[in-house]
Order: sequence, then structure tokens, then C-alpha cells
Amino acid sequence: MGTMPPGSGHAEDWCVKEQVDLIVNDAAEVVTVAPDRDSPLDGRPLTGPEMDDPAVLPGGALAMRAGQIVAVDTSERIAARFEAPAVCSARGGTVIPGLCDPHTHPVFDATREGEFDMRARGGTYLEITRAGGGIFSSVRSLREAPVERLRTRLVERCDRFLACGTTSIEAKSGYGLDLATELLALELLAEVGAAHALDIDPTCLAAHQIAPEYKHDRAGYVRLVAEQILPEVARRGLARSADVFCDEGAYTVDEARTVLAAARDLGLALRVHADELAPVGAAELAASMGAQTADHLVKITPAGIEAMGRAGTAPVLLPATCFSLRLREYAPARDMIDAGLAVTLATDYNPGTSYCPSMITVVSLACGLLGMTVAEALTASTRNAAATLGLPGVRGQLKAGAVADLVILDVSNHLFLGYQVGWNPVAAVIKGGRVAWMRHGFG
Ligand code: NIG
Ligand code: FE
Repeated sequence: MGTMPPGSGHAEDWCVKEQVDLIVNDAAEVVTVAPDRDSPLDGRPLTGPEMDDPAVLPGGALAMRAGQIVAVDTSERIAARFEAPAVCSARGGTVIPGLCDPHTHPVFDATREGEFDMRARGGTYLEITRAGGGIFSSVRSLREAPVERLRTRLVERCDRFLACGTTSIEAKSGYGLDLATELLALELLAEVGAAHALDIDPTCLAAHQIAPEYKHDRAGYVRLVAEQILPEVARRGLARSADVFCDEGAYTVDEARTVLAAARDLGLALRVHADELAPVGAAELAASMGAQTADHLVKITPAGIEAMGRAGTAPVLLPATCFSLRLREYAPARDMIDAGLAVTLATDYNPGTSYCPSMITVVSLACGLLGMTVAEALTASTRNAAATLGLPGVRGQLKAGAVADLVILDVSNHLFLGYQVGWNPVAAVIKGGRVAWMRHGFG
């Protein structure tokens, strides 16, 4: 910085400004999700009352360089300190961290809108599954699909996530249920993830169901997953985590434990589809195995909440799934927040139970159905979700040193994230310090 001669005009006329790649300015609000503003950058999730503090900077702006946030400050101070070849006005909108979606199933072929209609006519998820629909129907269509079509569809879905303001996802295999097709799904995630702006943290969900050809030999399929599929996935480095669907109509607690123990021995992180349809003790199992997350949790018991709290297992709540399944019963988000759990939210994007790619819709549903505040739901969808992903850098908060993933919304404050439903407020998405998506006419 140069020094200003006495009696001079504006600081910017005299100071040598620091060069950055991109400045975003003129935001009504920059929602930092970093209430610990004055402490060093830290990717830890927020818990308890801290989840309800969005740490808004009114009139804010950001400077970015080499994929990272350099500074978050008022528009005036950013303009005084930095210059950039590209400046993007937020036009009085709201800037939030790039949304993180910690539970998706995007590798599938056919959609299953007919099942949604069957449920609207009174059918249940378990009845549809037992009649050969549900996950089994997606397994049939995936196994028969040409790879080129699967790739194209996955790319289109990644485009949708990005247009909804999501910059990082966890993504599962799980519609292959044999070695070759599970590997194919994970290879597609690696290939598409490497080329797309969206970052993908891959999970092997070979234990999504018992493969149809093992219908009469459940133990045989559990062995195949534990002794062949997971070891090969780990050997090829195709997944960071393994998941198992532990619930009524899916894996028993004992079967799930076998799968999780094998995955843990292979060095994979653990995630569990737990206690969605019945309180089978899957949350307790996840906690006892040191799982990173337990997901769904509609039927979790107080003992399950306590076990997760002790183990530091994060709940991933999926209200769009309850909505699509017409469950009319929801995970006890308030009890979890009160118990100090690092609650996260996700879409569960999949062809059967949640055809919803939008984390902003999930924020609305979390407010309306789970009794969360907008600030809590936003924390759960950004910083806390990011903390469960194995992606490099600190994500989900707007603070110097964090990955420069952010979203410009065409609303004047963050409360619209819950309040407004059925309109995508995303005007622009910045991924790693570059504009990755922009609404037509915004730029
Ligand atoms: O998370 N619960 C299990 N798995 C998915 C549903 C997948 C499907 O029905 O295709 C879920 O909701
Ligand atoms: Fe799921």
C-alpha cells in the first residue's frame, strides 16, 4: 500500500491496490455462515444456537483469487483495497455460500413418476418395493442402459444441481447391485465430476438392497458386497465412503454391521440410510461404527440421538423424501439441534423418493416441516453439509481462505430462502472463483 499525501481525495486514487481475479459487490446481504468471524478459518460444523446465526454482512462484497476467497467486507472497503479484471454486481441481491448436498443418488436411467402417482392413490413405498418396483426397478433399467445415455443424463443432472446453487454434492452408486454395474456408476461419477464445475464426493452404496438374483441368499449378497465389491471399489479409489440402507424392508442391523465393518477395515468413511421407515436401531449402529453420517432418521429414538451425539455422527435430514413419500412424520430436527448434533440437510435426489435437485426447496421444506429456522436450515445446507464431505478446502462459508464457491440470489435477504417456494432465486453461481452458471439476462 502507498501512503496518502495530506489533503488528498479518495484512498483508491493513491493506494496500489491488490490484484484479485474476481470481485462480487453490491450485495444487500453477504450471508457468511461464519459467526466465528474473528477466529482463524475453521471447517468445523456449527451446533446449537450458533446454527441460528447466519452472520450477515449488510452491503457486503467479496474478493477472490486462485479459487479462494481473499476478503469479505463492505463494498466500499473491497473497492478501496482490491482491483480485478472482472467485477460482478450482485445488484442488491443476497450472496450465500455455494450449497452443499450431502446425500444424492444421481446415477440412474429411467425416472419413476408412476410410483409417485401410485402413492398419491394410497400405495406405500414398501408395498411398491415388495411388488418389484422401487430400487429394483431402477436396478433393472440401469443394468440395461447404454453407457452413453447414462453419462448424458448424469451431466444433465449435474447441470441442474449447479443451476439450483449447489456447488458440491455427495453422490452414491447403488442401482447396480453387481460388481460391474456398481463400478460403472462410480466410474461415471469420477469421469463427470472431473469435467464438471460441480464437485462430487463419491460413495459406494452396493448395499442399497439385496440384489434380485440373491433374493433367496441374502447372506451371499452381503458377502459379495463385503468381500468383493467394496474391496475392488477401495482398490480402485472409486469411493471415499460406503453406505448401507438399514431399515425395514432393507438390510437388517446385523447385515448392515457386516457391510460397515468391511468398509471401515478398507479405510472407507461410513454413511448409513438409517431408521427412515422403522426404528430398527440403525442410528445406534451408525454411531457404534463411528459413521460420519446417519441419514433420514424419521423414526430415530431418543437413545439414537444420544448415541449419535456421543459418537459425533452427523444427522443428514431429507424432508423432500418425507414429502414425496407422503410420510407426514419427520425427523426430530429440534431435538437434534437441542442435543448439540451438527444437523445437515440434503435433497436425497433419486428417481423414486425425491426427484428434487434443489437445496433451496429443501430449506423451505425444513422450515415448514421440520420446524427449523431459515438460518438453521441454511447452516445445515452449507457449512454443516460441507463438513461431512471429503472434498478439499473449507467450504460452505464465506470467509478469507475458504473455497470461493458462492451463489448470488435475486432476493433482498436470506429469509426468502424459506419464505419463497416454487421459484429458483439463483441468479449466478461462482465455483472456485469463476462464474460457472448465470441466469439468462443477469450478466
Ligand atoms: O434414500 N432409502 C433408500 N434409498 C433411497 C430411495 C431410493 C429409491 O427408491 O430409488 C432414499 O430414499
Ligand atoms: Fe438416499
